[in-house]
Amino acid sequence: MNTRAIIGVNPQLPYSMEEAINRLRINVSFFGSDIRKIMIVSSEPNEGKSLVAMNLWRQMAGAQEQSILVDVDLRKSMMVKTYQISREDGRELWGLSHYLSDNKKIEDCVLTTEMEYGDMIPNVNNVVNPSMLLESRRFSDLLEMLAANYRYVFLDVPPLGLVSDGERIGHLCDGAILVVRGGVTPKSVIRNSIAQLERAGCPLLGIVLNRVGAGGGKYYGKYYGKYYGKYYGNITGDTMGNIRKANTTQKCPVTMKTGNKPAS
Ligand SMILES: Nc1ncnc2c1ncn2[C@@H]1O[C@H](COP(=O)(O)OP(=O)(O)OP(=O)(O)O)[C@@H](O)[C@H]1O
Ligand SMILES: [Mg+2]
Repeated sequence: MNTRAIIGVNPQLPYSMEEAINRLRINVSFFGSDIRKIMIVSSEPNEGKSLVAMNLWRQMAGAQEQSILVDVDLRKSMMVKTYQISREDGRELWGLSHYLSDNKKIEDCVLTTEMEYGDMIPNVNNVVNPSMLLESRRFSDLLEMLAANYRYVFLDVPPLGLVSDGERIGHLCDGAILVVRGGVTPKSVIRNSIAQLERAGCPLLGIVLNRVGAGGGKYYGKYYGKYYGKYYGNITGDTMGNIRKANTTQKCPVTMKTGNKPAS
């Protein structure tokens, strides 16, 4: 019997963004029944992976597709804090790193939610070097088990550009959705990410061009510089065009634009 989670923060997305995620959900549902484990990834920090992953999972579960959201950002996960996730029974919350390192049972780490079709595995304790955990048999077996029990397994992962976790996880997934921050992520960086996915043998299912029209480079360096390395700098120009050019070898069936979410 799984524990039920309380998700304290449920931000209402603006209509245009809700619609964009809805289109993404529909596109994902056309990928076919072999595509179950889907990694939501980006090149750099702060491009909107967690926001896209959380809302895609919500919408998929809302459409009665059994879905689980797995927080695989074992280094610097913010999900529990941002969405104020706790256990309904008030007991200590356990998550992926507990399952992988402490031999906790899976039923102690999978949380059910108010959505009948939406479960989650949060990450509660960040770990300094998760590579061993992500390379372990226990992790690959977990993904197989989840894929056998859920129609969709959405994995929220760290950025590809700064740590190798994304490639490692991608190797075990059926595909990736690459979130790109509109007008900010440099073309060369996107190209590298696509090459990394290719190396990992992880098909690129789609590109989400997030925060179209938003500027703001300061935002990165200030918060993430010390964790992940330096910010790459702004680019100008047609990011969609850049992505098309960058995407030379992999076929990318879905592209989607989301606007800027108004400040709450
Ligand atoms: N379209 C958007 N409009 C406005 N704000 C956004 C948008 N997408 C993401 N954000 C905000 O940007 C911040 C970073 O988003 P998010 O945490 O989803 O990025 P991330 O790629 O998961 O970051 P990290 O690399 O740290 O895991 C959050 O505060 C989020 O609310
Ligand atoms: Mg994130």
